[in-house]
Amino acid sequence: MNLLHARIPAGTADTAPMVEARAAFLSSGAYAPLENELSRVVSGTAGLVVDAGAGPGHYLSRVLEAAPEAAGLALDVSAIALRRAARAHPRLGAAVWNLWEPWPVGDGVASVVLDVFSPRNAAEFRRVLEPGGRLVVAAPLPGHLAELGDLVLSVDERKEERLETALGDHFTRVSRADVVHTAPFTARQVHDVVAMGPAGFHLDRDDRRSRLLAAEGRDVTLAVGVSVWRRKDA
Ligand SMILES: C[S@@+](CC[C@H](N)C(=O)[O-])C[C@H]1O[C@@H](n2cnc3c(N)ncnc32)[C@H](O)[C@@H]1O
Repeated sequence: MNLLHARIPAGTADTAPMVEARAAFLSSGAYAPLENELSRVVSGTAGLVVDAGAGPGHYLSRVLEAAPEAAGLALDVSAIALRRAARAHPRLGAAVWNLWEPWPVGDGVASVVLDVFSPRNAAEFRRVLEPGGRLVVAAPLPGHLAELGDLVLSVDERKEERLETALGDHFTRVSRADVVHTAPFTARQVHDVVAMGPAGFHLDRDDRRSRLLAAEGRDVTLAVGVSVWRRKDA
């Protein structure tokens, strides 16, 4: 669909190997419980769903399946990721955009803003949401991917507090569901979940490669909080 380009800050965009790994990992179904929760929350929404930091558009396309009256807009600073997103669903448009700049979206036009593991610009979330619109945030909980140790970034124990600080001026939380699911990861899933994050840059180091192999077949925990917020003035 549409692909619009804007100024890109250096060093923030996911690279081609990271995007490939993310797309492969998400397609494997390893995070299906998270997809299901996001689809449940957004199901039945009509109007515009903006996915802030949509990456390859995996979650937005799943959510659009559950909301047949909705159209999606994927925003991300990675053109490589958005090329995938633009093809992910027929009701999905995509704009390469820095989330810290004013978004290419009118005031009060979005029914839902989705943010899954991505930067949070609370003022823009608020501006683009219609009165009564909902902000849906997915953020890792302590214990997320814990079995992989320092192969992945550890979760900040004060993440919840930071979420409240980042959003609390503009939004009130109306619900939160914790998605916690433990299952064995295949070697490919272990590789991809590491390669899709910042630690992926060091995968060629011998010590890391052998630790990745050792993690094959190990149970790994998905632990993500999905919270729903409404504008304070709505
Ligand atoms: C952890 S990934 C999550 C992607 C997607 N939501 C998912 O869960 O598959 C974070 C995403 O935010 C994007 N990103 C990081 N900084 C950004 C910025 N300033 N503006 C727009 N996108 C940004 C990255 O390119 C990446 O796609």
